[in-house]
Amino acid sequence: MNLGNLKQMTERGEKIAVLTCYDASFATLMEDAGVDLLLVGDSLGMVLQGAGSTLAVTLHDMQYHTRCVARGAKNIGIISDMPFGSYQISPEQALRNAARLMAAGAHMVKLEGGSVMADTVRFLTSRGIPVCGHLGFTPQSVHQLGGYRVQGRNTEDAERLLHDAMALEEAGAGLLVLEMVPAGLASSLTAQINIPTIGIGAGTDCDGQVLVMHDMLGIYPGKTPKFVKNFMQGAASVQAALAAYVQEVKSGAFPAAGHSF
Ligand code: KIV
Repeated sequence: MNLGNLKQMTERGEKIAVLTCYDASFATLMEDAGVDLLLVGDSLGMVLQGAGSTLAVTLHDMQYHTRCVARGAKNIGIISDMPFGSYQISPEQALRNAARLMAAGAHMVKLEGGSVMADTVRFLTSRGIPVCGHLGFTPQSVHQLGGYRVQGRNTEDAERLLHDAMALEEAGAGLLVLEMVPAGLASSLTAQINIPTIGIGAGTDCDGQVLVMHDMLGIYPGKTPKFVKNFMQGAASVQAALAAYVQEVKSGAFPAAGHSF
């Protein structure tokens, strides 16, 4: 699986199974389990570094973990998060830092934000850097959003989200993560844009799903969000849990209604 196949997968109705990954050993296990894409998420600030948010993650952290994942993943797409403060100042700043993540082994970078980031997305994609957008609950804005909350619940917010998604698509984004948005909104948004959507707490109709690996293996000591399923329950090994995740995403069994808003 590589990034070029994503659209074809969506066109033939095959769901895209994505997991976060931060090291070489898990990258190999995930690739062997059939995960389609690995996301080196800045969630590593919480699940690896023990912080309360993603805000303190540095570009150096992201380069290090991207390099580790790239050593373990032989033939699978790697998306790396651009950390807080590494891309918001200007498109030039974003290009300089995105290039460092690509040099570390990423095939695509992910950044948070809608229309306000469109010029930056255009700047990166027109210079050879594939970009994944991230809308809905955007963890780097946790303080502005007033905590971990579902986004797009009222008509005005839902319309803004749709407008943002279209702006990112128009600017050249190749993929879009939707986090903590009502299932109905994610479904209609997915139908209205032409790039694949990857949901996390965004219902079953997205083109794919992503979970934080520590959540789906049940090893994060913090609060478990409603959209998480612990795939270690009933699994004989980590490998079996990863394979079950892939199988349930592909079949549409995960997420169930109880995992959605
Ligand atoms: O950092 C991360 O793990 C993410 C996912 C929650 C999508 O951005």
